[in-house]
Amino acid sequence: MRKSLSKLPLVGTNIFTKMSGLAAEVGAINIAQGFPDFACNPELIALVDQAMKGGFNQYAPMPGLLKLREGIAEKTFELYRREYDPGTEITVMPGATAGIYSAIQALVQPGEEVIVLEPCYDSYIPSIILAGAVPVRYKMKFPGYAIDWEEVRRLINSRTRMMVINTPHNPTGNILTREDMLALQSLVRDTDLLVLSDEVYEHIVFDGEKHWSVSAFPELAERSIMVASFGKTYHATGWRVGYVLAPAEMTAEIRKVYQFIAFSASTPVQHALAAFLNKKEAYLQLNLFFEKKRDRFREMISGSRFSLLPSRGSYFQCATYERITDEGDAELAIRLTHEYKVATIPVSAFYQDHTDHRVLRFCFGKKDETLEKAAEILCKI
Ligand SMILES: Cc1ncc(COP(=O)(O)O)c(C=O)c1O
Repeated sequence: MRKSLSKLPLVGTNIFTKMSGLAAEVGAINIAQGFPDFACNPELIALVDQAMKGGFNQYAPMPGLLKLREGIAEKTFELYRREYDPGTEITVMPGATAGIYSAIQALVQPGEEVIVLEPCYDSYIPSIILAGAVPVRYKMKFPGYAIDWEEVRRLINSRTRMMVINTPHNPTGNILTREDMLALQSLVRDTDLLVLSDEVYEHIVFDGEKHWSVSAFPELAERSIMVASFGKTYHATGWRVGYVLAPAEMTAEIRKVYQFIAFSASTPVQHALAAFLNKKEAYLQLNLFFEKKRDRFREMISGSRFSLLPSRGSYFQCATYERITDEGDAELAIRLTHEYKVATIPVSAFYQDHTDHRVLRFCFGKKDETLEKAAEILCKI
């Protein structure tokens, strides 16, 4: 009998690739995948160009350019009041995805358990499985996606090594409050649990609310790995640069793994980001920029038969559709792409059991013109 080739037999082509591919194939408007369809800052592009022409085209140092890590340390201190040592606690990587994967491979042993809160971003569970570890799922409570931390506590046992959190949250647009973070802090106190905190949408929090980073809670920060993404912050997801903040002992282990995954991230882009990081308005005003898009998009589809869930952060808007059909969301997303030429993402793709979900995710991180066209179609469904 032939041995199975697959280490991830349950994983197929991911939903974002699938829906973007289908959108392109049938010429549909793509409000599915989470990337902007508008240009990033021309100044930033000029800085990359300058770095390339200036000859910065060879490998960057493995942990990232020192001046970029220094900039990240300064920014993190200003925002969250925690000092991370650029030498031993900050690692620049090709996107948050590489950070998540490296942290899980480095810090979780085969047979250990990792708690994930579903619905969750699709890279977590495969990364856990590839580490030989066991994902333990907690389902956040529909429709508000609240977390009952006492219920989460019951999932912790002697094999539990890590919990993955994500705020602002993809796909739900929910955020963790200060109370959530304090509950998490008390939950992990007196345990060996590490917290992997995916904060790629840290600058996109709405309605005057604040982003609560693990790094703002000293007790939590000591056991946490915080992952961030320049791609999300600067509308440049294709440049593949993000970073990981973690106490020195953990960073040393994460770097051991990461050096054999990608070794380093794009050199010219790191030079550009290091020079651009002091333009604080670029990230400090991001929340207002996307809040306007959220408000406009919600208003435009308020007359549709979709029922909108709250969107408190990220650039995602979820909706139920009980007034339209009782189809499952994956089925509906495919049908809408073919019949109405609008591509969305079924939230079932963020759960292990894909069945019995009826929520679609729309990405409003798009040009106004794209959102107007998409809204016009959504109102006809
Ligand atoms: C929650 C979440 N984490 C991580 C990522 C990946 O970020 P990056 O593009 O920096 O790898 C994404 C991208 O969509 C995301 O939504």
